[in-house]
Amino acid sequence: LRTDLLAAVDAAPGLDALDAVRVHALGKQGAITALLKTLGGMSPDERQVEGPRIQGLREAVSDAIAARKQALEQSALDARLSSETIDLTLPVDLTPPGSVHPVSQVMDELAEIFADLGFAVATGPEIEDDWHNFTALNIPETHPARAMHDTFYLAGQHERPMVLRTHTSPVQIRTMMAQKPPIRIIAPGRVYRSDSDATHTPMFHQIEGLVIDKGITLAHLKWTLETFLKAFFERDDIVLRLRPSYFPFTEPSAEVDVGYTLRGGKRVIGGSGDDTDGGWMEVLGSGMVHPKVIAACGLDPEEWQGFAFGTGVDRLAMLKYGMDDLRAFFDGDLRWLRHYGFGA
Ligand code: PHE
Repeated sequence: LRTDLLAAVDAAPGLDALDAVRVHALGKQGAITALLKTLGGMSPDERQVEGPRIQGLREAVSDAIAARKQALEQSALDARLSSETIDLTLPVDLTPPGSVHPVSQVMDELAEIFADLGFAVATGPEIEDDWHNFTALNIPETHPARAMHDTFYLAGQHERPMVLRTHTSPVQIRTMMAQKPPIRIIAPGRVYRSDSDATHTPMFHQIEGLVIDKGITLAHLKWTLETFLKAFFERDDIVLRLRPSYFPFTEPSAEVDVGYTLRGGKRVIGGSGDDTDGGWMEVLGSGMVHPKVIAACGLDPEEWQGFAFGTGVDRLAMLKYGMDDLRAFFDGDLRWLRHYGFGA
């Protein structure tokens, strides 16, 4: 029996077969179990001899089963390891490739359009001191515009109060302080205001424009805006309306509306807003740079004049691509990007 059982254990081709051998030998109805039961009917002398023999058999068989089990598991593992090796020479699947975000796309388009008009790109810090963000822009400490901007202030002690810049206009100041006129720059970037709904997010994007030279007038401003909006919306029938407005850092100031036409219930940029199926949409703030701002940067306002404008990049993207919720820009939802033709 011993040789038969040990041979069967060694011959078991897999874990299931091995378990069958175990049941056959050690189970309730097993051969060794049956032998153990015979001990009860033996005389004490017989039992002294047979007891250790049967126990020895039982131990030998269960040890053999345990050893065989380990060997089978090991070879199963070896087989898996060799069949599942990773072929590092296989080419990697590169999908999904990702794509340019609409905001980046629009910033790139604007940089290109303005480059053709001779504008360089300037940048400034997003954590700004309140002198650059407000004071130098003719917004003194007591000015209501500070409250209007829903400013994020940085906690802690600083030499000057620090804010998250509320607009890109401080780049006007940094540029005028850093380089001599003539100046022609645009400054695209992130700005921050404590505000959130379908058309406002606490972080959004602006693009600033600044020209400082001699003999600059409102006509230069209007031509520049018209030329850029025509190029951006890829239409020749762009009509602008300049409405008198107020910004502390420009004088005179103008808010710029662009005409749209209703086509099948949708607003399409182009045409006069005064047409029967038209309307006006505000797209920009602008004006002639205030003499106090020019002076704050150490330039003589008698000698140098200029214009400035600022607009929301996200807003321009919404208008160009027909998007209606600003918050979706920053949700990172690939379905939204694909819906508007961005992303693979
Ligand atoms: N900084 C203004 C704003 O954020 C826009 C602006 C820029 C207006 C330059 C005039 C000139 O609303």
